[in-house]
Amino acid sequence: MAIAAVALTDAAPINRRPSPSPTGHSVSLTRNDNYRHNTHAQIVKLNRRYPNLRVLATATSGNVSLTNVKPDIEYFGTVLVGTPPQKVKLGSSDIWFPSKACTSAACKNHVQFDSTKSTTFQKDGRPWNIAYGDGSTASGILGTDVVNVGGVAVKQTIGLATQESAAFGQSPSDGLFGLGFNTIESVSGVKTFMDKAIAGGVLAQPVISVFLPSVRRNGGVGGEYLFGAIDNTKFTGNLTYAAVTRKGYWQIAITDVGFNNQSLGQASEGIIDTGTTLVIVGDAAAAAIHSNIQGAVNDPQNGWLVPCAAQNSTDNVSFAMGGGNFNIPVADLAFEDLGDGSGNCFSGVQGGQNDLWILGDVFIKNNYCVFDQGKSQVGIAPLNY
Ligand SMILES: *[C@@H]1O[C@H](CO)[C@@H](O)[C@H](O)[C@H]1NC(C)=O
Ligand SMILES: *[C@@H]1O[C@H](CO)[C@@H](O)[C@H](O)[C@H]1NC(C)=O
Ligand SMILES: *[C@@H]1O[C@H](CO)[C@@H](O)[C@H](O)[C@H]1NC(C)=O
Ligand SMILES: *[C@@H]1O[C@H](CO)[C@@H](O)[C@H](O)[C@H]1NC(C)=O
Ligand SMILES: *[C@@H]1O[C@H](CO)[C@@H](O)[C@H](O)[C@H]1NC(C)=O
Repeated sequence: MAIAAVALTDAAPINRRPSPSPTGHSVSLTRNDNYRHNTHAQIVKLNRRYPNLRVLATATSGNVSLTNVKPDIEYFGTVLVGTPPQKVKLGSSDIWFPSKACTSAACKNHVQFDSTKSTTFQKDGRPWNIAYGDGSTASGILGTDVVNVGGVAVKQTIGLATQESAAFGQSPSDGLFGLGFNTIESVSGVKTFMDKAIAGGVLAQPVISVFLPSVRRNGGVGGEYLFGAIDNTKFTGNLTYAAVTRKGYWQIAITDVGFNNQSLGQASEGIIDTGTTLVIVGDAAAAAIHSNIQGAVNDPQNGWLVPCAAQNSTDNVSFAMGGGNFNIPVADLAFEDLGDGSGNCFSGVQGGQNDLWILGDVFIKNNYCVFDQGKSQVGIAPLNY
């Protein structure tokens, strides 16, 4: 990815307010029932977007509602930027979105932020650009403005795109909002929203808690990013904490993979990433998992496929982290029908990441995740919905 070398623009949080409730602010996710997508292309694009953490943001506590781009392809929330606020739909890493000045076709499909209409916008003057794993790019200028995430407002450096490659034209969100540690921000030295919010003391707890609902389990409704708090009603039992082994992404040690409580003898470092649709493991682990699913095949075109009838399976794949074991039901491996009459579905677990596995939304929609920046750990517990 392209790194623009620029110095930090500092800005203090502008909205220090008492925590309205012990649960904090959450951002509710909304559904987009009309969005039409090419599932396979979308998954490929999202999964290739790594390495770009697409974790989401929180407020003293801020509640951001998430839209499920069905069927669980991606999730996005709406944040407010500028004064008076302009609504921008953001889906993952770094904070950037189209500028009014952008003439690319991709920008025209989205909200274009008009900085001239914001009394709190400040020009930075430095150029900004980013390139993703799928070859898509965006570039423009940096500025600072107030970003309000579910009620938590921070003065924040933002990227205003004046050019976007065509791939972004299809995206249901307008831009991206990262939740990673600042070591992976596209502009070196720029503090993340969480850095600012924590330093400014606006969060009750230095955490972002994520609930991604799946279409299969509850119709995909009620998703939220909760900034600064943990919603105990969303999970069962206690959170198990896994230490972050390397800051940047939310990287943890995956110590075992199981199938119905039988160890498959696989382990790796991995990241928990809201911005990746599927779970991407090493080739050996993907083969070991699918060897337990009758009819699973590794197709050269589409990767691992499982019979769609697996939607009725009660079997589980499990990942061990922090001393706990967390399930992905095999039912979620039947991700979406290929639509070619074969009765096969794209598997929700794919190979190809032999070094660093990615536990994307297929994992998160079964397990509540608390990204605890304060203690550099991730809390995980099975979802209760
Ligand atoms: C977040 O907002 C949504 C929608 O308003 C609400 O249903 C949910 O209960 C809120 N979550 C918390 C933890 O306040
Ligand atoms: C959760 O933790 C508390 C306090 O450590 C303990 O008393 C309780 O039994 C735990 N609950 C479960 C379901 O493990
Ligand atoms: C099997 O279940 C036990 C008890 O819950 C657990 O401690 C162990 O880690 C599990 N093993 C695998 C491979 O899932
Ligand atoms: C799941 O089982 C039900 C009831 O037996 C059946 O009607 C349905 O077609 C099955 N689903 C799939 C995807 O095979
Ligand atoms: C899979 O996990 C669910 C939820 O924990 C459990 O109810 C079910 O019995 C498990 N299936 C098997 C085959 O162990």
